[in-house]
Amino acid sequence: MKGIILAGGTGTRLRPMTLIMNKHLLPVGKYPMIHYAISKMAAVGIEEIMLVTSKQSAGLFTEYIGDGRTWNVSVTYKTQETAGGIAQALGLTESFVKPSEKLMVLLGDNLFEDTLKEAVDAFRLQGQGAHVFLKKVDDPQRYGVPELLNGRIVRIVEKPKVAPTSFAVTGIYLYDGGVYDVIRSVRPSARGELEITDVNNAYAEQEKLSYNLLTGWWTDAGTHRSLLEAGIRLMERDGT
Ligand code: DAU
Repeated sequence: MKGIILAGGTGTRLRPMTLIMNKHLLPVGKYPMIHYAISKMAAVGIEEIMLVTSKQSAGLFTEYIGDGRTWNVSVTYKTQETAGGIAQALGLTESFVKPSEKLMVLLGDNLFEDTLKEAVDAFRLQGQGAHVFLKKVDDPQRYGVPELLNGRIVRIVEKPKVAPTSFAVTGIYLYDGGVYDVIRSVRPSARGELEITDVNNAYAEQEKLSYNLLTGWWTDAGTHRSLLEAGIRLMERDGT
Protein backbone atom coordinates (compact mmCIF):
# COMPACT_ATOMS: atom_id res chain seq x y z
CA MET A 1 0.00 0.00 0.00
CA LYS A 2 1.27 3.46 -0.93
CA GLY A 3 0.79 6.59 1.18
CA ILE A 4 -0.16 10.04 -0.09
CA ILE A 5 0.01 13.14 2.11
CA LEU A 6 -1.62 16.29 0.78
CA ALA A 7 0.03 19.44 2.07
CA GLY A 8 -0.77 22.05 -0.57
CA GLY A 9 -3.69 24.47 -0.49
CA THR A 10 -3.70 28.09 0.55
CA GLY A 11 -4.41 27.95 4.28
CA THR A 12 -6.54 31.10 4.14
CA ARG A 13 -8.20 30.42 7.50
CA LEU A 14 -4.80 30.51 9.20
CA ARG A 15 -3.75 33.91 7.88
CA PRO A 16 -1.66 35.91 8.60
CA MET A 17 0.69 33.06 9.60
CA THR A 18 0.16 31.29 6.29
CA LEU A 19 1.11 34.41 4.32
CA ILE A 20 4.73 33.47 4.99
CA MET A 21 4.57 29.77 5.93
CA ASN A 22 2.81 26.71 4.55
CA LYS A 23 0.16 25.59 7.08
CA HIS A 24 1.67 22.11 7.39
CA LEU A 25 4.98 23.50 8.61
CA LEU A 26 3.47 25.48 11.47
CA PRO A 27 4.36 24.22 14.95
CA VAL A 28 1.95 21.85 16.66
CA GLY A 29 3.31 20.82 20.05
CA LYS A 30 6.97 19.92 19.58
CA TYR A 31 6.94 19.35 15.83
CA PRO A 32 5.89 20.94 12.56
CA MET A 33 2.39 19.72 11.64
CA ILE A 34 3.63 17.51 8.79
CA HIS A 35 5.62 15.35 11.24
CA TYR A 36 2.45 13.72 12.55
CA ALA A 37 1.07 12.65 9.16
CA ILE A 38 4.31 10.84 8.31
CA SER A 39 4.36 9.18 11.75
CA LYS A 40 0.78 7.96 11.31
CA MET A 41 1.57 6.39 7.95
CA ALA A 42 4.73 4.75 9.25
CA ALA A 43 2.69 3.34 12.17
CA VAL A 44 0.36 1.40 9.86
CA GLY A 45 3.30 -0.10 7.97
CA ILE A 46 3.35 2.13 4.90
CA GLU A 47 6.87 2.32 3.50
CA GLU A 48 6.53 4.57 0.46
CA ILE A 49 4.96 8.00 0.71
CA MET A 50 4.43 10.79 -1.80
CA LEU A 51 3.95 14.28 -0.40
CA VAL A 52 2.11 16.84 -2.51
CA THR A 53 2.79 20.48 -1.76
CA SER A 54 3.11 23.89 -3.34
CA LYS A 55 6.23 24.94 -5.23
CA GLN A 56 7.05 27.78 -2.80
CA SER A 57 7.27 25.46 0.22
CA ALA A 58 8.82 22.34 -1.32
CA GLY A 59 12.35 23.30 -0.18
CA LEU A 60 11.36 23.61 3.49
CA PHE A 61 9.58 20.25 3.44
CA THR A 62 12.61 18.50 1.97
CA GLU A 63 14.81 20.18 4.58
CA TYR A 64 12.73 18.77 7.44
CA ILE A 65 11.71 15.40 6.01
CA GLY A 66 14.49 14.63 3.54
CA ASP A 67 14.07 11.14 2.10
CA GLY A 68 12.06 10.02 5.14
CA ARG A 69 14.75 7.89 6.83
CA THR A 70 13.97 9.38 10.28
CA TRP A 71 10.63 7.56 10.09
CA ASN A 72 12.04 4.50 8.29
CA VAL A 73 10.00 5.30 5.18
CA SER A 74 10.82 6.60 1.72
CA VAL A 75 9.36 10.03 0.90
CA THR A 76 9.16 11.55 -2.58
CA TYR A 77 7.66 14.89 -3.54
CA LYS A 78 5.25 16.29 -6.08
CA THR A 79 4.40 19.95 -6.53
CA GLN A 80 0.88 21.22 -7.05
CA GLU A 81 1.17 24.39 -9.12
CA THR A 82 -2.20 25.85 -8.11
CA ALA A 83 -4.57 24.76 -5.37
CA GLY A 84 -7.15 23.04 -7.58
CA GLY A 85 -8.74 20.97 -4.85
CA ILE A 86 -7.98 17.87 -2.83
CA ALA A 87 -8.98 15.49 -5.63
CA GLN A 88 -6.84 17.43 -8.12
CA ALA A 89 -3.84 17.17 -5.77
CA LEU A 90 -4.45 13.43 -5.40
CA GLY A 91 -4.69 13.05 -9.19
CA LEU A 92 -1.10 14.28 -9.48
CA THR A 93 0.17 11.15 -7.76
CA GLU A 94 -1.12 8.67 -10.35
CA SER A 95 2.29 7.57 -11.64
CA PHE A 96 3.36 6.74 -8.08
CA VAL A 97 0.67 4.08 -7.58
CA LYS A 98 0.24 0.90 -9.65
CA PRO A 99 -3.36 0.22 -10.78
CA SER A 100 -3.36 -2.97 -8.67
CA GLU A 101 -2.14 -1.14 -5.57
CA LYS A 102 -4.14 0.42 -2.74
CA LEU A 103 -3.43 3.78 -1.22
CA MET A 104 -3.92 5.64 2.00
CA VAL A 105 -4.49 9.39 1.67
CA LEU A 106 -4.05 11.80 4.57
CA LEU A 107 -4.87 15.49 4.54
CA GLY A 108 -1.82 17.01 6.21
CA ASP A 109 -3.87 19.18 8.55
CA ASN A 110 -5.76 16.27 10.11
CA LEU A 111 -4.40 15.41 13.53
CA PHE A 112 -5.80 12.51 15.54
CA GLU A 113 -5.28 9.92 18.22
CA ASP A 114 -6.43 6.62 16.67
CA THR A 115 -3.74 4.35 15.22
CA LEU A 116 -5.89 3.07 12.28
CA LYS A 117 -3.83 -0.11 12.04
CA GLU A 118 -6.78 -2.50 12.25
CA ALA A 119 -8.90 -0.67 9.66
CA VAL A 120 -5.97 -0.30 7.28
CA ASP A 121 -5.08 -3.99 7.58
CA ALA A 122 -8.71 -4.93 6.89
CA PHE A 123 -8.72 -2.69 3.82
CA ARG A 124 -5.52 -4.30 2.57
CA LEU A 125 -7.45 -7.59 2.44
CA GLN A 126 -10.61 -6.03 0.97
CA GLY A 127 -10.88 -6.50 -2.80
CA GLN A 128 -11.80 -3.02 -3.94
CA GLY A 129 -13.60 0.20 -3.08
CA ALA A 130 -12.94 3.07 -0.71
CA HIS A 131 -13.04 3.53 3.05
CA VAL A 132 -13.51 6.69 5.12
CA PHE A 133 -13.27 7.46 8.81
CA LEU A 134 -16.06 9.38 10.53
CA LYS A 135 -15.93 11.40 13.73
CA LYS A 136 -18.86 12.71 15.78
CA VAL A 137 -18.51 16.50 16.02
CA ASP A 138 -20.42 19.52 17.36
CA ASP A 139 -20.07 21.53 14.13
CA PRO A 140 -20.57 19.09 11.21
CA GLN A 141 -21.45 21.89 8.77
CA ARG A 142 -17.70 22.74 8.61
CA TYR A 143 -16.95 19.40 6.96
CA GLY A 144 -18.08 16.74 4.54
CA VAL A 145 -21.08 15.12 6.27
CA PRO A 146 -22.36 11.59 5.55
CA GLU A 147 -25.99 10.73 5.03
CA LEU A 148 -26.45 7.29 6.58
CA LEU A 149 -29.10 4.70 5.81
CA ASN A 150 -29.20 1.21 7.31
CA GLY A 151 -25.59 1.55 8.40
CA ARG A 152 -24.39 2.54 4.95
CA ILE A 153 -23.14 5.90 3.62
CA VAL A 154 -25.55 6.77 0.82
CA ARG A 155 -24.07 10.20 0.11
CA ILE A 156 -21.69 12.79 1.52
CA VAL A 157 -22.67 16.45 1.49
CA GLU A 158 -19.80 18.96 1.51
CA LYS A 159 -20.24 21.72 4.11
CA PRO A 160 -24.06 21.52 4.23
CA LYS A 161 -26.15 24.37 5.67
CA VAL A 162 -28.19 21.78 7.52
CA ALA A 163 -26.16 18.70 8.38
CA PRO A 164 -27.92 15.34 7.82
CA THR A 165 -25.96 13.72 10.69
CA SER A 166 -23.51 14.90 13.34
CA PHE A 167 -20.52 13.16 11.79
CA ALA A 168 -17.60 14.67 9.92
CA VAL A 169 -15.89 12.72 7.16
CA THR A 170 -12.29 13.09 8.29
CA GLY A 171 -9.38 13.66 5.93
CA ILE A 172 -8.22 10.05 6.13
CA TYR A 173 -9.12 8.00 3.06
CA LEU A 174 -8.32 4.51 1.76
CA TYR A 175 -8.75 3.78 -1.95
CA ASP A 176 -8.22 1.10 -4.52
CA GLY A 177 -6.09 1.98 -7.56
CA GLY A 178 -9.26 2.80 -9.51
CA VAL A 179 -9.49 6.15 -7.71
CA TYR A 180 -7.55 7.89 -10.50
CA ASP A 181 -10.24 6.93 -13.05
CA VAL A 182 -12.85 8.26 -10.65
CA ILE A 183 -10.95 11.57 -10.32
CA ARG A 184 -10.95 11.89 -14.11
CA SER A 185 -14.75 11.61 -14.09
CA VAL A 186 -15.21 14.39 -11.51
CA ARG A 187 -16.05 17.96 -12.62
CA PRO A 188 -15.04 21.16 -10.75
CA SER A 189 -17.45 22.28 -8.03
CA ALA A 190 -19.03 25.72 -7.69
CA ARG A 191 -15.83 26.92 -5.95
CA GLY A 192 -13.81 25.70 -8.94
CA GLU A 193 -12.14 22.76 -7.16
CA LEU A 194 -12.07 19.02 -7.76
CA GLU A 195 -13.72 17.83 -4.55
CA ILE A 196 -12.72 14.69 -2.70
CA THR A 197 -16.36 14.44 -1.61
CA ASP A 198 -17.40 13.92 -5.26
CA VAL A 199 -14.83 11.15 -5.56
CA ASN A 200 -16.18 9.48 -2.41
CA ASN A 201 -19.74 9.89 -3.66
CA ALA A 202 -18.86 8.02 -6.85
CA TYR A 203 -17.84 5.06 -4.65
CA ALA A 204 -20.96 5.49 -2.47
CA GLU A 205 -23.20 5.34 -5.55
CA GLN A 206 -21.70 1.97 -6.42
CA GLU A 207 -22.11 0.85 -2.80
CA LYS A 208 -18.35 0.56 -2.51
CA LEU A 209 -17.77 3.06 0.30
CA SER A 210 -17.21 1.55 3.73
CA TYR A 211 -16.44 3.41 6.95
CA ASN A 212 -15.69 3.22 10.60
CA LEU A 213 -15.75 5.68 13.48
CA LEU A 214 -12.72 7.22 15.10
CA THR A 215 -12.88 6.75 18.86
CA GLY A 216 -10.04 9.03 19.97
CA TRP A 217 -9.77 12.81 19.51
CA TRP A 218 -9.56 14.22 15.99
CA THR A 219 -9.08 17.72 14.69
CA ASP A 220 -8.65 19.46 11.38
CA ALA A 221 -6.07 22.04 12.44
CA GLY A 222 -7.23 24.50 9.83
CA THR A 223 -8.24 27.34 12.17
CA HIS A 224 -6.30 29.21 14.86
CA ARG A 225 -8.35 27.64 17.64
CA SER A 226 -8.14 24.06 16.39
CA LEU A 227 -4.39 24.49 15.81
CA LEU A 228 -3.92 25.63 19.40
CA GLU A 229 -6.07 22.80 20.78
CA ALA A 230 -4.18 20.20 18.78
CA GLY A 231 -0.88 21.63 20.02
CA ILE A 232 -1.98 21.30 23.64
CA ARG A 233 -3.17 17.70 23.18
CA LEU A 234 0.04 16.66 21.47
CA MET A 235 2.21 18.46 24.03
CA GLU A 236 0.38 16.54 26.76
CA ARG A 237 1.03 13.29 24.89
CA ASP A 238 4.68 13.93 24.02
CA GLY A 239 5.74 15.82 27.16
CA THR A 240 7.75 19.02 27.22
O1 DAU B 1 -10.60 17.84 7.38
C1 DAU B 1 -11.65 17.14 6.83
C2 DAU B 1 -12.32 17.90 5.71
O2 DAU B 1 -11.31 18.23 4.72
C3 DAU B 1 -13.44 17.06 5.07
O3 DAU B 1 -14.50 16.87 5.99
C4 DAU B 1 -13.98 17.71 3.82
O4 DAU B 1 -14.90 16.86 3.20
C5 DAU B 1 -12.84 18.02 2.84
O5 DAU B 1 -13.31 18.70 1.70
C6 DAU B 1 -11.77 18.86 3.52
O6 DAU B 1 -12.35 20.13 3.80
P1 DAU B 1 -11.49 21.44 4.09
O7 DAU B 1 -12.31 22.63 3.77
O8 DAU B 1 -10.96 21.35 5.47
O9 DAU B 1 -10.30 21.34 3.05
P2 DAU B 1 -9.05 22.31 2.89
O10 DAU B 1 -9.25 23.15 1.68
O11 DAU B 1 -8.76 22.99 4.18
O12 DAU B 1 -7.84 21.31 2.59
C7 DAU B 1 -7.58 20.23 3.41
C8 DAU B 1 -6.16 19.69 3.19
O13 DAU B 1 -5.93 19.36 1.82
C9 DAU B 1 -5.08 20.64 3.61
O14 DAU B 1 -4.23 19.91 4.48
C10 DAU B 1 -4.39 21.07 2.34
C11 DAU B 1 -4.75 20.00 1.32
N1 DAU B 1 -5.00 20.56 -0.02
C12 DAU B 1 -6.15 21.28 -0.21
C13 DAU B 1 -6.43 21.86 -1.44
C14 DAU B 1 -7.69 22.64 -1.67
C15 DAU B 1 -4.09 20.38 -1.04
O15 DAU B 1 -3.05 19.72 -0.86
N2 DAU B 1 -4.35 20.95 -2.28
C16 DAU B 1 -5.49 21.67 -2.53
O16 DAU B 1 -5.68 22.15 -3.67
